[in-house]
Amino acid sequence: MGEFTKSLSLCALLLLTLRIAQHHRRLTAHNPLELWATHNVRVALAENGGASIRCNATVLEGQHQWVEVTWSGLGTGSYDDYIALFPAAGDPLITAPIKYHWAARSPSHLILGTGSVTFRLLNMRQDMRFALVRSGLQFPVVVAWSGVVTVAEPNQPMQGHLSLTGKPGEVKVQWVTRDAGSPAVRWGTRSGAHEWSAAGDSLTYTRADMCGAPANASGWVDPGWLHGAVMAGLQPSTTYFYQYGDEELGWSGEESFVSPPATGPGASVRLLAVADLGQAEVDGSMESSEMLPSLATTAALAAEVQAGAQLLVHNGDISYARGFGSQWDTYFDQLGPTVRRVPYMTTVGNHERDWPHSGDRFPAQYDSGGECGVPYYRRTRMPTPAEDKPWYSFDFGPIHFCQFSTEHLFEPGSEQHRFIERDLAAVDRSVTPWVVVGGHRPIYIDSTFYGLMPDGDQYVAKKLRDSLEDLLYRYQVDATWTGHHHSYQRTCAVYRGRCLGANADGTARAPLHLVIGHAGAGLTPNIHFFRPRIFDTVRLQHGYVVVEANATHMSHRVLASYDGSLLDEFTLTKPAGWRSQPRDVPRATAGGGGSPGEGARRGGAFAAA
Ligand SMILES: [Fe+2]
Repeated sequence: MGEFTKSLSLCALLLLTLRIAQHHRRLTAHNPLELWATHNVRVALAENGGASIRCNATVLEGQHQWVEVTWSGLGTGSYDDYIALFPAAGDPLITAPIKYHWAARSPSHLILGTGSVTFRLLNMRQDMRFALVRSGLQFPVVVAWSGVVTVAEPNQPMQGHLSLTGKPGEVKVQWVTRDAGSPAVRWGTRSGAHEWSAAGDSLTYTRADMCGAPANASGWVDPGWLHGAVMAGLQPSTTYFYQYGDEELGWSGEESFVSPPATGPGASVRLLAVADLGQAEVDGSMESSEMLPSLATTAALAAEVQAGAQLLVHNGDISYARGFGSQWDTYFDQLGPTVRRVPYMTTVGNHERDWPHSGDRFPAQYDSGGECGVPYYRRTRMPTPAEDKPWYSFDFGPIHFCQFSTEHLFEPGSEQHRFIERDLAAVDRSVTPWVVVGGHRPIYIDSTFYGLMPDGDQYVAKKLRDSLEDLLYRYQVDATWTGHHHSYQRTCAVYRGRCLGANADGTARAPLHLVIGHAGAGLTPNIHFFRPRIFDTVRLQHGYVVVEANATHMSHRVLASYDGSLLDEFTLTKPAGWRSQPRDVPRATAGGGGSPGEGARRGGAFAAA
């Protein structure tokens, strides 16, 4: 083969590789902004000299506002024309849009090249403007800019949400403003009378804190300052009214919450659990977003809180911002009606944390879009030992939660493994009879993703079983709550691949494993054609879990987000005054057993429906 032919072949191979990589990126894009190709952008205002675009507002007042955007002068419209919202200071050759509407949504666009769409503008602390863009997301051509929409109150407290600190009588509130200021919270037991106050602190992050693109490139949005302040000395199960903000820069509106019940078997609690939620736009922009079902779920969660739910647990894959910073703003705005009223406790997922060679356990995973955990850690401050050691525990009524990271080392000998063992061994079951272990990736999973690569569902599940299953069994953990696989799944009471059923007193002989990754992201259809025998239920429908627990019963209802229908229902029971005795772990077959369902038999004692 001549040199020329060799070079030609190499070039062809390179082009093919690039094309496959580009195609793969398109297939794996979780949000449409991942398709925005900054390097192909052209600003060509002269090419469509007659084109113009205008917004009917010049000022964004308060937290959000609906605006109408109109355009004209294109001659004939095309299906790949769109109206994109940008930070006013953002250069489209560097920065991706915040969101966009396809122009063809407007009936007159294709024929006349004119039209109008409505956007809901969210206060993201900086001025904005709209662009009329042609040629799709891969080769965008900006042909007209609107005037600037000025943000009137960049220091309006935004993204308010509550969490627990792990200490009794404390609830933390976090929020965001453009400037640091002097953050504080004030609260009281009567509306409008805030007799107590506490100073807060502030964090932020910079482009340099990101590990890669798009987080430090096209997706970068200045996060402002992320504040936190703790309300301490709270009486249990008491309604408090609160405001967060700043004497100089302004306060939030008044919110209220019911403080956590006293820890112990005397408490009855009602809580919500999700994983893999994400966010979407209520104005219908970004219409191809995979996360559209999250809107139904967050509306259902807000209604559950209105009806008395006291806590929201979210085990990984939080906003799916994946490096597009504005989506964290959208996420907390969407979840706000829920998490301004109940504490929100999270664990880290691959889409918050994973980035090659940044300290997680997956050397080739780009799932965080370059965020490598930093925005997640600083926006949802959990009571962890350090920022990138995202494991912790907390009590809520009669339940002890041990939250860990499947994105960090969990093998015996690791710091996290030592924490989990120490934590589970120290639980006083006369105080918290129920123990739930939460993480992102499942320990048992009905998935056909057997890849030996480091993040294959079955590969990781086996690693988790090898490392943790004996601990879960020994310390009589009642259940694990995980996600990652976008489905709902419930195992029998299983240990080393076998359903063990129930003891004579009704208690389970082993933990149940719940996969609750069906909250909002696109469902994962790769389940086995024949359900593995250790799984009592597998459902591919968006939903969330409502748990009610007291000393002797822990009931679960799994509800569909769209219509509230019942996807699953079961109850775990313990006799009154139950005391745990650590179980002996059999020596043989250590290693978590074979594949799920191997040698299994059905327990069935816990499925009440
Ligand atoms: Fe995930």
